[in-house]
Amino acid sequence: MNIREKLSTIFPTADGIPAEFLMPATVEQTTCLVNGELLEWRGPMEEVLSPVCTAGPSGPSRQLIGRFPLLSEKEALSALDAACEAYDSGRGKWPTMTVGERIACVQEFAWRMKAKRSEVVRLLMWEIGKSLKDSEKEFDRTVEYIGDTVDALKELDRVSSRFVIEQGIIGQIRRAPLGVALCMGPYNYPLNETFATLIPALIMGNTVILKPPRHGVLLFTPLIEAFRDSFPPGVVNTVYGAGRTVIPPLMASGRVDVLAFIGTSKAADLLQTAHPKPHRLRSVLGLEAKNPAIVLPDADLNLAVEECIAGSLSFNGQRCTAIKIIFVHARVADEFLALFSRAISALGCGMPWEPGVVITPLPEPGKQEYLAGLLEDAAKFGGRVVNEAGGTVNSTFFFPALVYPVNDRMRLYREEQFGPVVPVLPFEEIETPINYIVASDYGQQVSVFGRDPLLLAGLIDPLVNQVSRVNINSQCQRGPDIFPFTGRKDSAVGTLSVSDALRAFSIRTLVAAKETGLNKEIITRIVRERKSNFLSTDFIL
Ligand code: G3H
Repeated sequence: MNIREKLSTIFPTADGIPAEFLMPATVEQTTCLVNGELLEWRGPMEEVLSPVCTAGPSGPSRQLIGRFPLLSEKEALSALDAACEAYDSGRGKWPTMTVGERIACVQEFAWRMKAKRSEVVRLLMWEIGKSLKDSEKEFDRTVEYIGDTVDALKELDRVSSRFVIEQGIIGQIRRAPLGVALCMGPYNYPLNETFATLIPALIMGNTVILKPPRHGVLLFTPLIEAFRDSFPPGVVNTVYGAGRTVIPPLMASGRVDVLAFIGTSKAADLLQTAHPKPHRLRSVLGLEAKNPAIVLPDADLNLAVEECIAGSLSFNGQRCTAIKIIFVHARVADEFLALFSRAISALGCGMPWEPGVVITPLPEPGKQEYLAGLLEDAAKFGGRVVNEAGGTVNSTFFFPALVYPVNDRMRLYREEQFGPVVPVLPFEEIETPINYIVASDYGQQVSVFGRDPLLLAGLIDPLVNQVSRVNINSQCQRGPDIFPFTGRKDSAVGTLSVSDALRAFSIRTLVAAKETGLNKEIITRIVRERKSNFLSTDFIL
């Protein structure tokens, strides 16, 4: 069977889905977590259609897998009221708790979360079409991230549990929470990237409003009770519905102190400027990227293709860190394209639960049309799809397209495709990719493939000042999570890593006193009698 024939029958019939991966029933998310209570919602609901279609007599169709509330401004503001009340201008139970007590709540949550692994993994597959392996990886990586965050906070707390005496002044310096954090993750890592901001925000003593992404909402349902039962009322609150309805009023209230958002810079700008006092708002943003790969003439082409395939097509290219444009030296371009085309043909394509699958159905409505539009536009300016069956569409499925030669007149040259289309440009002079990167609106990462240390060194020095991570003979990626993850220009605001995130969601505050007899006695007594959670030399092992 050739690729096109295989793609025409890619979707299973309803009875062809293995029993262990079937959705046992639709997920009806009919409540919102507000002030520690699951409030029943009786208003309009949004239907969730899976990108995983089932084949029927009239062709493939998307299955209904659940519903979630379409809240109005009023309910969104109630969630905000609950978060503000729990924070109580920094005087609430949660922001004044000891670090050890907050850690215990987060650990309790992680323990409850682990029990929901299979439900969340199944929903990741059905809601966003992520492969079983990657869905499991997303879940496990998130649980690990929580554990690492706890360890990083213990370390931070140990360092801050000592007094500093400088120029006759005694000080104790710690990190304190900022207030109410609004956390919004993206659809491609709905669990991991939401929790990568939510967990550090919480553990540092902020109260939180969680708004799930547009796709990837139901997978939070199995975790809602764990939130309710692990944290004091109002510390975690959920908001569902259309972002444009529920989010602007929250920002316009001026009562959101931290905006943690992964999405487009356009949306982030609108949200930040909706805040009446933008200078009061701490923003932690993960935005667009168009990470280039540069393949030098002496590169190990098999390695470069392997890394560029993983970099550009893992989870269908729907990663903010994906390689989204490849510059190949003209001398090796033909060989690179031949190897790359062959590697695409060998990629596992199918349903998320199928072993070895990489290319799966796409969750965004209209995405196939958008990607096909990019190919049409490229064709107008001389860009051909060079791989077998590239760009073949069957309902929500889009077979990867390798496009060559790409030039600056094409939309693919600049637009972040966020999907399985791989643009390749030939270059003669190294200035070509460098000038592209300098002129780009984005500055997240770059991958460079080559063998000559001197040539690579000559590229590293200019490139580190353009992007935030230069990968040598390796694809672009976020992990390991202890590495700083950020970007320049329109790609990010703030830095996330296990330890950087703790800083992003807190501010340094200190208690200071002149080193007089009276002050020493006061401080000693407060510490000895454990009268303050802040002014304390206790530390957690
Ligand atoms: O979508 C952006 C993610 O943060 C990328 O993470 O490089 O581990 O896939 P990753």
